[in-house]
Formats: sequence, structure tokens, C-alpha cells
Amino acid sequence: MSAMRHLLDLCKRRGFLFQSAEIHGGLRGAYDYGPLGVELKRNVSQEWWNSMVYQRSDVVGIDTAIITPPAVLKTSGHVDQFTDEMVDSRLSKERFRPDKAPALKLDDHHPQGLILPISAPDKITAKVWEHDIRTQFARGAAITRKGKEILLQVERMEKDKIVLKKDDRATITTLDPTDLHIPYHGYVDPNSNSPFLTESRPFNLMFKTYLDPIDPIDKVITTTLDAQKTPSTSDLTSTRQLVDKTLHPSLTYLRPETAQGVFINYATVQRSHPHLKIPFGIAQIGKSFRNEIRLEHAIFRTPEFEQMELEFFVAPWQAEEQFESWRKFRMDWWRYYGRNHDRIRERPHAQDELAHYSSGCVDVEYLFPWGWGEVEGIANRGDFDLSKHSEATGIKLQYTDAILMQERQAREKATGVKETDVEALARERFTPHVVESSCGLNRAMLALMLDAMEVVDERGKAIPFEGSEGDNNNTNTENTTVHVSKGVRTIMRLHPRLAPVKVGIMPLISNNKDLVEMCTGISQSLRQELQVNVSMETQSTTIGKRYYRMDEIGTPWCVTVDFESLQDRMVTIRERDTGEQRRVSVDEVVDLVRNGLRLVPRATQNKQQKTISV
Ligand code: GAP
Repeated sequence: MSAMRHLLDLCKRRGFLFQSAEIHGGLRGAYDYGPLGVELKRNVSQEWWNSMVYQRSDVVGIDTAIITPPAVLKTSGHVDQFTDEMVDSRLSKERFRPDKAPALKLDDHHPQGLILPISAPDKITAKVWEHDIRTQFARGAAITRKGKEILLQVERMEKDKIVLKKDDRATITTLDPTDLHIPYHGYVDPNSNSPFLTESRPFNLMFKTYLDPIDPIDKVITTTLDAQKTPSTSDLTSTRQLVDKTLHPSLTYLRPETAQGVFINYATVQRSHPHLKIPFGIAQIGKSFRNEIRLEHAIFRTPEFEQMELEFFVAPWQAEEQFESWRKFRMDWWRYYGRNHDRIRERPHAQDELAHYSSGCVDVEYLFPWGWGEVEGIANRGDFDLSKHSEATGIKLQYTDAILMQERQAREKATGVKETDVEALARERFTPHVVESSCGLNRAMLALMLDAMEVVDERGKAIPFEGSEGDNNNTNTENTTVHVSKGVRTIMRLHPRLAPVKVGIMPLISNNKDLVEMCTGISQSLRQELQVNVSMETQSTTIGKRYYRMDEIGTPWCVTVDFESLQDRMVTIRERDTGEQRRVSVDEVVDLVRNGLRLVPRATQNKQQKTISV
């Protein structure tokens, strides 16, 4: 079973993650988080908030609206530039991003010579596609079909085209030699290897919506019908312009990033919090929406997702240093919560990859089962955002260093000479630059689950997912597998602060009133004193099976109450990662869990006395 399949099965079975609206057939790219998923997601975002806001004196939080007026996103460049290139496969009608699509694969060991194989999903589709190729896309080409594979004979490859071999038996009289020249731009349909594609075109990723009690479709119909009545407006372009004009007053967007909500509030936050001196940051966690061309890998790429973003406002001359410092800070965060440090890396963006606003960017990438994928971007956005919003609104979004200004004014008063040093004045008042850290919460959760997931045999020895271990350059590990046989089980070695359930509490005999009562008391103390999620495990299975169920969802500690506990008030505490069990006083449990959950590095944690090691 592949690592991803294994995880998704576990997520569904144990209530982390479900396909949304499944009982109505589901909706592609939409996911619901179950009782454990919601806890894990909250814990990841809480840990982010702790380190970005509570642990620092220079960052404050904000929560801004999702529905965004066009002026904001026009100013930020999203209306004109937040696009991906999009291509349609002429055979499958699938839509994909050419920058993520693979190069053409050819078979040069075939008895018929150089072959371009196209894979259809089944034999019937292969027949239909073969017909389409013969009649529309490569008339007269030498083609054969084997099961669900269509084989095209290739004459030669040129820089930007594939020249197919002519079928000597073809009887088409109107054949143009260029019918056998297939344009090739370096990519094919990722699912079929087909080179029969539309030209690539830009596609804006933002979701539009209309704040209007009148259905916008009614307005479109009325405007279109009116436009058709006048010859000067009846062509497609003019009609479209009229429709856009009619809808514009009620047009809004679902925000594609939380960042813009911060930029438009820069001045209000700064005014309301005058103690915030540059450099300072504004953090936000919230939903963002993108009409992604390709949804992939469950919650890795979805149209609706959550972002954890920090916009850190700095003086222009601090930007480089702050960018480097945030890179390090964020990588340390990832290493603290992740177990496999060789599966997390930084990847600096090449110049042509940079977003329209960015003058420098590194991606934090995780080695997912299908290869390296971005989980976070750290960018030096320059003064792009504040300058643009300032230009568009006429409102100065600047920072004034009051101390420098007062000192200059005092000097001027004393000397009677006005100071004109441009550089010195620029240090007094400037448009801040922004260093951004932008992390996808859902992606972070997926990465941290995959990172924590370990399959072990009956002796507790880890069974690696084949192909995924130790190969850092591996980019095709989608099919990494592990054979799930008897005795094989899963342990989610999540950092205790991320674990959805912190303690599993179990009576030795599940229906014994006295044992259950003592368990309830322990559970209540933990809930009330530590405000953590605990689970009473009262199924009538063996304690061992109940421990394993807790391991599977990442519960760091289990507490078992047996008949002796009723006499001596001692309980068994078991640790997930070592399997170690020891007797402790029931009065110690809250302190042990409290200590085990502290925000200290794991290495230090292990050395502490009277703490639980994880
Ligand atoms: N404000 C900058 C910004 O939004 P981004 O690289 O487009 O930058 C930041 O997005 C992060 O948001 C990504 O690293 C990723 O973790 C997450 N993200 C972006 N699009 C996503 C999607 N469609 N589904 C899930 N997460 C997504």
C-alpha cells in the first residue's frame, strides 16, 4: 500500500479527514476534518501562533474579511497577474498546468522503431481516441493500438515539433505533410502522455462572487439580450464588456491570500498600537480560496485552504538581514515539530519563478511520497504592497521614526538651520519593506502527519515505505509501498503538542463501575487543569489493543487504572514512543503530562527529571 493511501485510509477510519459531502457523491477538492483532524489542525495553527505571536513582543495578530472588494486585488496585482498557464488535452479534455506537466516519453526499443505511446484509461476510450487522432489530430499517421495503449510511429523529433511517420496504407488524398507535424512545447498530458493539446493560455485563479440580492445570471441574460439588439454591441467582445460593466458594482472576490488584509490594515494597526516600532509584524491565520486548475494529493492542493501568514514590516536597509533571520526561524520551527530532518529543505526561487511582488523567495519544501513539495514560502516583498495601496488610495502608508525626527527638530531649533540631508531624512520617514512567511495550514498538517507516520512489525521494528527512505532526490515516490500483514500496525509519532488526543485513559475492565469512576476523575483533572483533549477508552478489548489504537492516532500517553489502583492510588502510565510502562501515583499524572507538553526542545525534555520522554 502506498504511504499516501495508507495515511488517507487511517485518516478516514479514525476520523481525521473525510471527503466532503460524500453521502451526496462528494465534491472534488473539498475535505471535512473529523474530531481528530480538527484537533490536529488547531494544534498546528496554535503552535504557529504561539511561536509567531505569543513568544514575541514584536508581532500582533489580526483577522480580516474573506470577501474582498476588487479595488484591493486590482491594486495588489492579483486581478491582472494572479494567473497560471492552463492547457487542455484534446483527447481526454483534462485541464492541467504546463509548468507541472512531464516531458514526452518515447519508446526507442520497439520493433516498429521510435514509438510515442498514449495511454487511455480503458480499451473503449482507447478506441475513441484512436479514431479522433486518425480523423482530426494526425490524419494519415502510422498508428496501432494495443489494449488501452495507442502507439504512434515517430519519424523524428525537432526542437518544437514531433514529426510522425506516415501510414503507407493511408488512402487520404488531401493529406498535408504538416498534418504529421505535432507542435511540442516540452510537456504532454500528465495522465496519458498525449501531445495533442491546446495552446497554453492564462487563467485567473480567483473566485468571483457577487454581493447582490439579484441573481447575477439574470443580469447577464438581460444585458446580453439588450446588447444583441444593437449591431454595434452585438459582437462577443462588446457584449462581454457590457456584462462586466453591469456586474462590476456588485463584484467581489474570495481572497486568494490573507496577506492583503494585513497590508490594507497596516496604518490602522500601527495607529492603534503605537508601541509597535519597526521592525514589527502582523500575523493572520485564515481561509483563502483559489480556483486551482489541478487539485492534487488530497489536502495538498485544494480550492479552499487555510494560510498562516506573517507580514513583517522592516526598514528598507533591514530587509535582507530580516529575510535571512526569518528563514532560519521558520526552518527551526519545522525541524522542531518534524522528526525526519532530511525530509525538510529550503529551495531558493530562481529569478523567473518569483511572484510579481517578490524580490527574493525561498520555499520550505517537504519530501512527500510523490516528491518535494512546497509547504511554506518566505519572501522579501520589498515595498511593493504598501506603495501600491498608497498610490491607489492616496493614503500615506509610511512609518515615521519619532525619535529621529524629534532629535533633528531639536537640532534645527538649536542651530536655526534646516537639515536637508536626503539620506538622513529617508531614515526618518519611509515606506516599510515587508518580509513574509506564508505557510499552508492544511499542507503543514499533511506533511507533519506523513512525517510522524511509522508502520512497525509485531516486534515494533519500523518497516520503511519502499523507495521513500534515504533518497533525497527522489521525485517519484507516489508508489512507495509497504505490505500490510498481520501484526503490522501504525504509530503516529506526532510531537505531543500536536497530538489530537494527549492522554488515553482506560479502565482495565471496561464495564467495572469503580475503575470507570477513577478514570473519569483523572480525565476531569486533566481537562480542567491543563485544558487538553483526553479520551476515555472504554471499549471491551484488551489493554494492548487499546494502546495500539491510541498509538495509531498519535496519543503520547496512556493511563491505565486496574484493581490495585483502587487500593494504592497508583496507575500505569505508558509512553507511545518507547512503549515503556511505569507505576505512578494518580496525583502525579497531571504534572507528568504538563511537563511532557512543555515547549522545550525534545532533547532537553528527555533529560528532565520527573518528565515524560517523547
Ligand atoms: N501571500 C503569499 C502566498 O500566498 P503562496 O506561495 O501562493 O504565497 C503560500 O502560498 C502557501 O499557501 C503555500 O506554501 C502552500 O502551503 C499554501 N497553499 C497555496 N495554495 C494552496 C492550495 N491550493 N491548497 C493548499 N495550500 C495552498
